[in-house]
Amino acid sequence: MHTDAQELAAIAYVSTAAQVFTEEALEALLLDARTFNVEHAVTGVLLFDEGNFFQYLEGPRAGLMLVYERIRASRQHFGLIEILNRKVPERQFRDWSMGFTRAPKRVMLQLSQASWSRIVADIKGRPSDNSGLGMLAAFWNQASGREGR
Ligand SMILES: Cc1cc2nc3c(=O)[nH]c(=O)nc-3n(C[C@H](O)[C@H](O)[C@H](O)COP(=O)(O)O)c2cc1C
Repeated sequence: MHTDAQELAAIAYVSTAAQVFTEEALEALLLDARTFNVEHAVTGVLLFDEGNFFQYLEGPRAGLMLVYERIRASRQHFGLIEILNRKVPERQFRDWSMGFTRAPKRVMLQLSQASWSRIVADIKGRPSDNSGLGMLAAFWNQASGREGR
């Protein structure tokens, strides 16, 4: 067990898949990601819609940066656009070393265009429904019954 005594930060981005992802390729990616994330106390969720990824990552700043470096260096995607990178007061996905679910294109678009700037004000308690984090939490809660962690 680790504590969150260190300052917590969160990163969200969208990117484009560099290849067709088979179920096996996705599983391999997640296994690798989760192993590294557990070691660095990073949690979060990954959404995929065939062509694009959306990822939300949270954890102590130092570990989070190591994970983000690996992600940015990965040749399995390109065109990464960062939509959030800041200090946060608490975790939203503490049980997920990297949750995964497929998402419809509509949801991917909504998340990439949502307001993420109010995250700090919103995050205490339940994030408001029209914030990026609120949308992500709502989508994740209804989707996460279907896929493994
Ligand atoms: C969409 C996506 C999400 C990823 N998420 C994580 C992650 O959460 N943690 C991590 O350590 N690495 C993550 N990675 C990095 C992969 O584990 C990476 O593939 C691995 O470092 C091997 O590098 P390669 O993809 O260039 O072969 C991610 C990569 C991609 C493409």
